[in-house]
Amino acid sequence: MLDLKRQYQPLQQELLAALQHVLETQQFILGEQVAAFEQAAARHLDVKHAIGCSSGTDALWLALAAAGIGPGDTVITTPFSFFASVSSILRAGARPILADIDPVTFNLDPEAVEAAMKSDPVPAVRAILPVHLYGQCADWAAYSMLSKKYGLKLIEDAAQAWGAEWQGRKAGGLGDAAAFSFYPTKNLSAAGDAGMVTTNSDDLDELARALRQHGMRRRYHHDELGWNTRLDGFQGAVLQVKLRYIAGWNDARRTIAKRYRALFHARGLAESGTRPRNGIILPPEVPGAHHVWHQYVIRCARRDALRDFLTAHNIGSEIYYPVPLHMQTALKSLGYVEGDFPEAERAAREVLAIPIFPELREDEQQTVVNAIAEFLSNA
Ligand SMILES: Cc1ncc(COP(=O)(O)O)c(C=O)c1O
Repeated sequence: MLDLKRQYQPLQQELLAALQHVLETQQFILGEQVAAFEQAAARHLDVKHAIGCSSGTDALWLALAAAGIGPGDTVITTPFSFFASVSSILRAGARPILADIDPVTFNLDPEAVEAAMKSDPVPAVRAILPVHLYGQCADWAAYSMLSKKYGLKLIEDAAQAWGAEWQGRKAGGLGDAAAFSFYPTKNLSAAGDAGMVTTNSDDLDELARALRQHGMRRRYHHDELGWNTRLDGFQGAVLQVKLRYIAGWNDARRTIAKRYRALFHARGLAESGTRPRNGIILPPEVPGAHHVWHQYVIRCARRDALRDFLTAHNIGSEIYYPVPLHMQTALKSLGYVEGDFPEAERAAREVLAIPIFPELREDEQQTVVNAIAEFLSNA
């Protein structure tokens, strides 16, 4: 599914030198390497500020808190994402409301969001938190319109979308603030847990920097109730090295995605629409989006059997995500029940992520496609 050793081997000397530098300077928490990474990251994303922190989960909380979202506020997000998209809203003290997804992109559906805003009783919505799922931006034209129409803040969950673009603008600079994850499986990855908030707002930047170290602006003087969510020097150093390569890696992912499309079409396995029948539905790149293919996710009616078949043939695959967030035990208190978000529930039954990473070889892709063809021929 993912072979990180192939990424490490050519970078070994550079990474070891960067780690050695941290040991020599003994700047383990924030410090010079983190500051240098933050500046390079901001330039890369064409955004004014980048604030390193200890995970994508913390980045989401930090973005919400620094945007002034807290108790009494409501935030609308998707039921089809990683748990942190919702738990970070609760952690900020706000109330999450969920809306269903677009079955084409799997991203939060702006029409469902607008419908949720008009539900009875009308919720005190302060923000929308769309997720750029699998590396493709949510429909930002629609979200910008909703933000203007209702005076809402927009917080991007860009955990899976380093380098993704919407109409030529990079994820991270689209909303009021954005959260990135550098978890090792992400397309830009650290050697451990790490995350980042980005924003074009000076005020939000200032507050996020204070909140990531217990609301401290002056040593041991605490102005707000923050938390410890600092980025460490080793991660800053590793990420600085990898940032030099991410554009090429994302291009490689795009080439691989294009090749999957061609291979599946050539075998006659790809079906149109969003409801798979005997074949599979391929993930599209929608107009306006520059997809970075953090994941390549197909739909299949017999998904679980397909996954078992691939596993038996030594081919990795993964389900992102098997249980929609409104059906998670930990989120029962939100009051949703099965049937509330039919598209998210259907996606949870049908999606399967197949191997995609920059070093994946053409013959390996062919093996994946052959195996899926063999499975589908045994209907
Ligand atoms: C969409 C999404 N949001 C948030 C996160 C949380 O990031 P982290 O694992 O770095 O805390 C992840 C990654 O796991 C994610 O995929």
